[in-house]
Amino acid sequence: MFQMLKKVSCVVMTLFITAFLLGVHQPVCAQEKKPIIQEPLPYSQNALEPFISSYTLGFHYGKHHAAYVDKANELLEKSPLAKQPVEEIIKATAGKADQTILFNNVAQAWNHSFFWKCLKAQGGGKPGEKLAKLIDENFGSFDKFKEEFINAGKAQFGSGWVWLVSDGGKLKIVKTPNADNPIVNNQKPLFVVDVWEHSYYLDYQNRRPDYIKAILEHLANWEFVTSNL
Ligand SMILES: [Fe+2]
Repeated sequence: MFQMLKKVSCVVMTLFITAFLLGVHQPVCAQEKKPIIQEPLPYSQNALEPFISSYTLGFHYGKHHAAYVDKANELLEKSPLAKQPVEEIIKATAGKADQTILFNNVAQAWNHSFFWKCLKAQGGGKPGEKLAKLIDENFGSFDKFKEEFINAGKAQFGSGWVWLVSDGGKLKIVKTPNADNPIVNNQKPLFVVDVWEHSYYLDYQNRRPDYIKAILEHLANWEFVTSNL
């Protein structure tokens, strides 16, 4: 009897270990998955220096972006929208007075995730042939696009974002206040620069145009932008 029990417990233990190694425990983890994920930065915290300091990026990603993600997940715990894709939550809550806090936090989580991907070390300058041709067709030249983009960022009163979007196939520069995102206007985001003060003030103080110029000349990830076309 004792030998039989020993054999059974041995088999049970073997099955348990095998199941664990094969990842049968994953559904438990999946249940804990939050609706909004803060992906790791696609580069190290000091990779964008000297144009964006490690200090700024640490606060921006680790405090500001993280706070939007945490608050969005907290609010989504009580929302029937929790299982929707993030873009659908943004569209469903935009412009609704009773959903403003949820919209602000979900949209800010999305905007920041998108912004990190728009940057890279040793980026900027003139984009590759495909995007450069579209920019020339829509803005006259890359220099004109750059000037218009910087001016749009400068003209955004208070906090917000400046975007390059595709609007029915036409490339446009648009600026949005606070958390607003062009997808609610059926425009496809291609590129964005965060112009909230938290994104540049430690490095540039009030010189917002210099910060945008530095991104266009040294950090823009044009390959990512092209992949969004
Ligand atoms: Fe930001």
